[in-house]
Amino acid sequence: MTSEVPAYRVWFSAEEIDEFVARTRAVLASGALVPGANNGELEAAFAALVGVRYATAVSSGTAALEIALRCLDLGGVGVLVPANTNFATAEAVVRAGCRPVLYDADLYPDLASIEAARTPDVAGLVVVHIGGYLAPTLPQIAEFCAAHGIRLVEDASHAHGAAWRGRAAGSFGAAAAFSMFATKVLTTGEGGLLVTDDPGVAGLSRRYRDQGKADDGLHNVVFGSAWRMSELHAALGVVQLPGLPVVLERVNTIVERYAMEISHPLVAVPYDPEVRYSGHKFVVTVAAGQRDELRDHLHAHGVRTAKGVYEVPLHRQPALGLSAGPGYPRAERFAAAHLCLPMWKGLTDGEVDRVVDAVNRWPGRR
Ligand SMILES: Cc1ncc(COP(=O)(O)O)c(C=O)c1O
Repeated sequence: MTSEVPAYRVWFSAEEIDEFVARTRAVLASGALVPGANNGELEAAFAALVGVRYATAVSSGTAALEIALRCLDLGGVGVLVPANTNFATAEAVVRAGCRPVLYDADLYPDLASIEAARTPDVAGLVVVHIGGYLAPTLPQIAEFCAAHGIRLVEDASHAHGAAWRGRAAGSFGAAAAFSMFATKVLTTGEGGLLVTDDPGVAGLSRRYRDQGKADDGLHNVVFGSAWRMSELHAALGVVQLPGLPVVLERVNTIVERYAMEISHPLVAVPYDPEVRYSGHKFVVTVAAGQRDELRDHLHAHGVRTAKGVYEVPLHRQPALGLSAGPGYPRAERFAAAHLCLPMWKGLTDGEVDRVVDAVNRWPGRR
């Protein structure tokens, strides 16, 4: 019996494991687990990847986003957040003391919905590169923000190495947050990276991550927290960066194959040849009400599907206490209509064949 095609796997090469073990030994032998050489290497390599001047390694993507909002001084004002995103995006906005203002969004942020949701106190906007997909309207969104004095912050938690026309995720806004959580394309188990071109934001972020402490030991400027990344975590990130170009090439080959070879008339495949994808997720959509049928069909044919991005929009997350407002039809439609096909760097050509074949054989309903 053939084995199932997994939705994704976390996998490290033998070289990455050897290098990580060597770095771990060196850190343990030195006794210096506090942010040091590995943090510095990770930050320098990641800033270079994004094409910005500064990166700050922190304890999570959520922390990176909260620190970015705090560094941009957005506490007490309205910050636009997409209705379709991870709970963590809104959580960071709330914890930074901002007032979350939802705008309608599906896989992509929608400029008309952003304009419609904007209230007089809005001074910040978060866009989320869901699954590592970059919206073709990002330049227009950045222009809109510039025209209205709104600070643009990217939640690039899924978008390591993604780019639109050669411009990297994380380089469109005043600051961006990446997650290095266990399931991400680049991972430190737990961790995050804040990137920016602004030396003021970069300097403050380093202060925030270490309890707001100044060099002289005074906590006199900002109210920070324990948002540091340990050297052991940073070492795991460092060892994966040299292999990232090969990973990106492979996942983009898989994305292209899915986009070209899935030919089912009832299955839509969002794909933009101008985008280099991170390969965090691969999304397809069907008519509302048929998603579970496609999922069951794929499972019955040995193809596992990954968790959606996202199946419950933020206005239906009770802990946030956000009202359903004017309604968020894009987010609702997307939540009920999308599915994430298998996607990770180790997917074989034969497994891609099996996924394509299973999707194309779905009976569907017109
Ligand atoms: C869109 C988005 N933003 C933020 C986060 C938070 O990242 P972390 O779990 O590293 O705090 C996640 C986590 O998966 C995410 O998916």
